[in-house]
Amino acid sequence: MDLFEYQARDIFEAHGVPVLAGKTATTPEEARAAAEEIGPKSGGVTVVKAQVKTGGRGKAGGVKVAKTADEAEQHARAILGMDIKGHTVGIVMIAQGARIAEEYYFSLLLDRANRSYLAMCSKEGGMEIEQLAVERPEALAKVAVDPNAGIDDAKAQEIVDAAGFDAETGAKIVPVLKSLWEVYRDEDATLVEVNPLVKTEDGDIIALDGKVTLDANADFRHPDHAALEDKSATDPLEAMAKEKDLNYVKLDGSVGIIGNGAGLVMSTLDVVAYAGEEFGGQKPANFLDIGGGASAEVMANGLHIILGDPQVKSVFVNVFGGITACDAVANGIVGALEKLGGEENKPLVVRLDGNNVEEGRRILAEFNHPHVIIEETMDGAARKAAELASK
Ligand SMILES: Nc1ncnc2c1ncn2[C@@H]1O[C@H](COP(=O)(O)OP(=O)(O)O)[C@@H](O)[C@H]1O
Ligand SMILES: [Mg+2]
Repeated sequence: MDLFEYQARDIFEAHGVPVLAGKTATTPEEARAAAEEIGPKSGGVTVVKAQVKTGGRGKAGGVKVAKTADEAEQHARAILGMDIKGHTVGIVMIAQGARIAEEYYFSLLLDRANRSYLAMCSKEGGMEIEQLAVERPEALAKVAVDPNAGIDDAKAQEIVDAAGFDAETGAKIVPVLKSLWEVYRDEDATLVEVNPLVKTEDGDIIALDGKVTLDANADFRHPDHAALEDKSATDPLEAMAKEKDLNYVKLDGSVGIIGNGAGLVMSTLDVVAYAGEEFGGQKPANFLDIGGGASAEVMANGLHIILGDPQVKSVFVNVFGGITACDAVANGIVGALEKLGGEENKPLVVRLDGNNVEEGRRILAEFNHPHVIIEETMDGAARKAAELASK
């Protein structure tokens, strides 16, 4: 999960990373009140910052300096509702204005290829780091960080030396890097990026921007992270699926998909998209892997979500019986349809194969549900589902 800048700021603060005061607002009036509160800390100057989960906000006009609360209100009025790279601004942060002397770059991230963490640091921050990495790679220091050791004094010193900081500035940055390491470790992040990390005219080091990605696999260790989720951005069907512990991803097409095993579901998406070309470009409406088991309850939960998607015109249930044999799956489908009781008013194309397939097909045939169509092959079923979706 990616965080908003203001959320990263709060987490930084909690771990002792130096940040400036900041307060969020969702209306120009709130922005004015926030500026009246925060401005006096920095000679009346505040910065109004669009809160969207994408970089380059400054360039897009989403970061504006305000000398008065009046100005802050005007900037907020202009920035709220603005579109930045496809993200609509719903929140602004009113931040204390910094008097910047220099802008640096620091990030710590998961380096999958090397099974390690990687710190990147540069004396040339502020601008887009991708550009710096391409144009002047020598200006971007890269230092491997052992996940078990983390960033201690020695490692932090190694990083600032590699980036070429003078001794005095380096000494001020070292404790900040150690605090940023604590953020990374204690919050189970996969990315902590500060661009820019600034030196103020008074010589203080401050994290002026923050980008943090949290590892969802570690959510169980962080009940507090649930509150950071941006509910307004999650698809309602995906939210419902998450509640039911289903591996569901909403897509744009018209053919609902249920399968067991991520690999089978992925290839089902491909086969449906291919078959759909013949029928006016029908496409999969979702990814849903119900995993092993396929009990009536899981099947019913899955069908409930897929049938609740108004874009879905037909459903393709593609199950390969392995440890869970096809007869158990067929009973799951029967149980699910009985549970749904009439909700299943869209055609359901079912393809079963594998362990105990004959018995599975027999159970479904005997059930004789008006909307269930049994197909023997995956290609045939995909074609049928796409054809039905086009009607
Ligand atoms: N609180 C602040 N005080 C003064 N200048 C700021 C402040 N926050 C951001 N800036 C300036 O705006 C630039 C862009 O802001 P930043 O938060 O990095 O957004 P983005 O990376 O999305 O463009 C920074 O490089 C910095 O020069
Ligand atoms: Mg930035």
